[in-house]
Amino acid sequence: MGQGGARGQRENRMMREAHREAAERVSQARLWQRHMAMARIGAIAGNGVNRPALSDEDIAARRLLIEWARAKRFEIGVDAIGNLFVRRAGLDPTAAPVMTGSHMDSQPRGGRFDGIYGVLAGLEALEAIDEAGVVTRRPIELVAWTNEEGGRFQPCTMGSSVYTGARKVEDFLDVTDNEGTVLREALARTLAATPELREHNFNAPAAAYVEAHIEQGPLLEQQGKTIGVVTGIQGLRWFNVEVFGKTDHAGTTPLALRQDALRDAIAIIDTLARFARDPSDVVRFTVGRMLVTPNSPNSVASHVLFSVDLRHPDPATIDRLGRSVEPLARDAVRQCTLKVTPTLHDDPCVFDAGVVAEIEGCAQALGLSHMRLPSGASHDAMYMARVCPTGMIFVPCEQGISHNEAENAKPADLAAGARVLTAALLALADQ
Ligand code: GLV
Ligand code: MN
Ligand code: MN
Repeated sequence: MGQGGARGQRENRMMREAHREAAERVSQARLWQRHMAMARIGAIAGNGVNRPALSDEDIAARRLLIEWARAKRFEIGVDAIGNLFVRRAGLDPTAAPVMTGSHMDSQPRGGRFDGIYGVLAGLEALEAIDEAGVVTRRPIELVAWTNEEGGRFQPCTMGSSVYTGARKVEDFLDVTDNEGTVLREALARTLAATPELREHNFNAPAAAYVEAHIEQGPLLEQQGKTIGVVTGIQGLRWFNVEVFGKTDHAGTTPLALRQDALRDAIAIIDTLARFARDPSDVVRFTVGRMLVTPNSPNSVASHVLFSVDLRHPDPATIDRLGRSVEPLARDAVRQCTLKVTPTLHDDPCVFDAGVVAEIEGCAQALGLSHMRLPSGASHDAMYMARVCPTGMIFVPCEQGISHNEAENAKPADLAAGARVLTAALLALADQ
């Protein structure tokens, strides 16, 4: 081996050593305290969080993140859908950043870790790298995506879908929440709350993206592993199904003369549930949202809107399931008219082999137990995977419980995931 080779190897080793040192700077106490501080914003009974996208609580969470980022003099920006960016500069200002992040919005009865963990782990990584004094070639950029959950405004993964050019911001401006608030107004209020931030463009080039998240399933805990190296995300289809009937008096109108939107909605849901029945229990079928008008015990329902969420890891199967929704609904409807609107069409994604191997290597180098696994939940990484090499890091959550106030995770596991994230970001930032 020539001298250059030996020097190269030595430099490589020193670089890896610097990455490990930065990873060791991750502060478990700071990371946990920040989770608890964020959990106070929108806190609900049972240790849960209700922090809907583009709400006052979301704005408060953004302000807190900005305050922490400002204290470290990181650059902060926001784009036109409200995605919030925190950047630590690299040596080469023209190089595309390595990105990390997740979301700060929650489900209506959500927990303290879904989404916010990936944001706080990303901030922790930036701070650990800064405190270790590591200089990277590329900038490292944290992003808090707008409306990942889709609990208030549908669909989910809205911010990342717009950022990556898969959807347009105009597609979503007229979407309303259950109270009739229009997204356009909620977004304008959110952006007006941070007028000082620099404007960030959509679809700025990214060198790579790594997202940390709690697993939201039981596998890591069952297998006694600390780090999940995520291989991909299953496909999804979302629909809004609207049934139009006629309101009538519940006591006087003979059943045969009714156009009962709720009765037809139930028939449609029953048909779809039978169709989605799967002995191997891989198909996921959920109707989780329903709006009934006029929603009175003694008036026949004139209008029902309900959601359909379908998921499967196989592209052909999710396609077949998705294409069947409207014809099955039309067959099932009896007295009313029907409108089926697709709101989300995400094919399964497979993460980049190089990023997956890098995450695995970092977990190994840090002496953390790990396993590969696919994601049943959806994430913004699904959209980033369309535009740059992408991967995800999972950490265990108690009994796999998520989208539930009881969601819980161990401080040591959260810190371990942040260490792997730090090392992976550093490795990718020098490529
Ligand atoms: C995101 O929480 C999802 O729906 O998987
Ligand atoms: Mn999430
Ligand atoms: Mn979620």
